[in-house]
Amino acid sequence: DKKITIAIDGFSSTGKSTLAKQLAKHLGYVYVDTGAMYRAITLHAMDNGFISEDYFNKQGLIDSLSDITLQFLYNPELEYAEVYLDEENVESRIRSLNVSNLVSRVAEVSEVRAKLVEQQKHMGENKGVVMDGRDIGTVVFPNAELKLFMTASPETRAQRRFEELTQKGDNVTYEDVLKNVQERDYIDSHRKDSPLVKAADAIEIDNSHLSIQEQFDRVLTLAKKHI
Ligand code: C5P
Repeated sequence: DKKITIAIDGFSSTGKSTLAKQLAKHLGYVYVDTGAMYRAITLHAMDNGFISEDYFNKQGLIDSLSDITLQFLYNPELEYAEVYLDEENVESRIRSLNVSNLVSRVAEVSEVRAKLVEQQKHMGENKGVVMDGRDIGTVVFPNAELKLFMTASPETRAQRRFEELTQKGDNVTYEDVLKNVQERDYIDSHRKDSPLVKAADAIEIDNSHLSIQEQFDRVLTLAKKHI
């Protein structure tokens, strides 16, 4: 079989990672969650006092970038790779609402994007990769064989994220989650560097009313046309 690159972009909580993980597992491809990378950089900036709700030392953040090592290490039990910041597995810490509330501001910084995009290109250089994010089909892999653009209504997305967070025991309200989803949509699609837009050749999938299985079947059919 020919190995391809699958780029999945879209707004937050559209189920990109669920789909990407299923596809990668089925095809024997590597899955890369690029949102986790932006989240890990944000966590590092928070831990080091460069950013908080009311403070942003952008230069401090930029200067610290060269000291950060981000890695994905495969977890055989989960059957996907988890993100490590230096030596620490930060998979659970990066999913908090605190990080979600600040990540889009960190992701606006061009120096952050340049560092991560370079690493992402490198991870996909041998193809056989499913990568999800905001700029994968437009910036990271403009030549990807299959590009998907996922959408769902903000309420559907906030409900999904709310259930995910409360199941983990996070004490959040639906309103807080909806507000975060809407704020990130706005910042992500209005920033100067690599805003979230649908690539001209991406296929749009609105999954507000699709089951996970229906969505997977549809996309696998699309992928098989290129393999
Ligand atoms: O995908 P996830 O919701 O975890 O992404 C978190 C944030 O990281 C996004 O809201 C966006 O600000 C940023 N991001 C980005 N480019 C990517 C992936 C994520 O700017 N390729």
